[in-house]
Amino acid sequence: MTNSATLGLFGLGTMGSALSLNILEKDFALHVTNHEPEVVGAFVKEAENEGLAGKLHGADNLADMVAAMAPPRAIILMIPSGDPVDETIEKLVPLLAKGDTIIDAGNADFHVTRRRTKHVEALGFTYIGMGVSGGEEGARHGPAMMVGGSPAAWSGIRDVIEGIAATFNGEPCADHFGPDGAGHFVKTVHNGIEYADMQLIAETYGLMRYGQGQSPSEIGAVFERWNKGVLESYLVEITAKVLQALDVQTGKPAVDVIVDAAGQKGTGRWTAIEAVRLGQSANVIEAAVAARAWSSEGKARVAGSAIFDAPRDALVLNDADLEAALLLGRIVSYAQGFRILDAASTEYDWSIDYARVAEVWRAGCIIRSSLLGDIAAAFRGDLPEGQLIFSKAFAQLIRDSLPALRRVVAAAVSGGHPVPALASALGFIDTMRTARGTADVIQAQRDFFGRHGFEHIDGRRDQHGPWWD
Ligand code: 6PG
Repeated sequence: MTNSATLGLFGLGTMGSALSLNILEKDFALHVTNHEPEVVGAFVKEAENEGLAGKLHGADNLADMVAAMAPPRAIILMIPSGDPVDETIEKLVPLLAKGDTIIDAGNADFHVTRRRTKHVEALGFTYIGMGVSGGEEGARHGPAMMVGGSPAAWSGIRDVIEGIAATFNGEPCADHFGPDGAGHFVKTVHNGIEYADMQLIAETYGLMRYGQGQSPSEIGAVFERWNKGVLESYLVEITAKVLQALDVQTGKPAVDVIVDAAGQKGTGRWTAIEAVRLGQSANVIEAAVAARAWSSEGKARVAGSAIFDAPRDALVLNDADLEAALLLGRIVSYAQGFRILDAASTEYDWSIDYARVAEVWRAGCIIRSSLLGDIAAAFRGDLPEGQLIFSKAFAQLIRDSLPALRRVVAAAVSGGHPVPALASALGFIDTMRTARGTADVIQAQRDFFGRHGFEHIDGRRDQHGPWWD
C-alpha cells in the first residue's frame, strides 16, 4: 500500500517486467501497460504463473491504464532513455490530474531531468527522477534506488519504493537525495564508479594474464579468494565467475571468445563530463571512460601492435600487491565520485547526504562492496578538507597499501602493460600528498604569455612576474 498514490507502470521490457513482479510480490497493487499491447497479456500470464496476479491490472494502452487508476496516481516509466521519455510525458500530460506523479526510472542525464521536472511541475503534476541499479536480478528481487524530486512526491511513493528495494541489515537501500535531478545524478556517479571499478579489475586481470601468464580460471580463483577479503564486492564476485566459465562451443575460457571492445550507453561519460564541468577531475573514472573508447579502436590497436613491435614483458608480482593496488584504485574511484557529488550538491543546492548514499549502495546495486559501510562511517565522522581519503580509517589504509600500488604500477609501466586507471589512482594520491606542487610554473607561463597575473606567496593577488618589468 502506498501512502496515497495508485501505482502504474509503463514499459514491460526486461527491467519493467522484473520490477513489476517485485512490486506485486511485495503485495502492492499495480496497473501496467506497454507500447505494444500484446506484451501486456504475456506479462499478465507470467504473473499468473508465479501466483502474483491478484493485484495486477493490465491495460491495452496508457489512456486505459490511467483511466482505471484512482487519483492521485504515480506512474513509473521503464522505457529507453531519451526521446521516448519526452514522448511518453507528452502522451501522459492530457490524461493526468493535478497531484499525479510521473517517475522516470531509467538512466537519465540529470540536466534533462531538471528540465522535465520544471516542465511537468509547471503543469500541476509532480515529477520524480529515480536511479535504479542492479540489472534484471536487482529489479526482480530488490534494486538500490536513488530518488530525486519534491519531498511531497517522495512521501507519496516512499512505502512502495522502500518496500521493493534491496535491504542491508534490514534497512531499505533506497532514499530521497534531493529535488529534481539529484536522484539521477547520484545514479550517474554510481555508474561512473562502476566504470572505474570494472576497468581497475580488468587491468589487474591483464597484468596477471598477459604479464604473469596465468590462465583465466587461475585468475578467477584468485578473484574468488579476494572476494572473501577487503575486496568483497559484487563486481569482484562476478569477475571470479566470468573468468572461470568456459565457452560451450569451443571449451575455451569464455572471455577468450569475446571481442575486446567495451560498449557503453553513456552514463560513465556523463560522470566524467560533469566532473570537469564542476571544476573537479575524477581521473580514475575518466581513465575508465577513455579505456572503453580506446578499446573500440580494435583495428588501430592491431596496426599499432605491428608498427611499434612492442611485446609486453613478463611480470612477477605477488597477489597481495595486486589485491592492495586494486583496493586503492577502488578507494580513489569512490572518493572521486563523492567529490563530484559534493560539487554538484553545492552547485544545485541539493544537500545530498553522502553517508546515506554510501548506505544505499551497500546492497542491490552494481558497485555494492564491503567498503561502503566504512565510507558511510567516514562521512559521519571527521573528514579533514572534506576528503574521504583523509579520514582516519582510509588514510591508514592508503599509507599501508601505497607501496604495493606503486610497485604494481611501476612494474606495469616499465613492462609496457597499459594500466591507465591504476596509474591515475596513484597519480591522484601522489598529487594529494604533495604540499607544494608545480602549478607555480603554470601560473608563470600564463602570466608570461597573457599577463593573466598570479597570487604571490605573501598573499598579494594580481601580481606580474619580472618578464613584464
Ligand atoms: C546498474 C547499471 C545499469 C547500466 C548498465 C550498462 O546500475 O544497474 O549501471 O544502469 O545501464 O551497467 O551501462 P553501460 O552500457 O554504459 O556499460
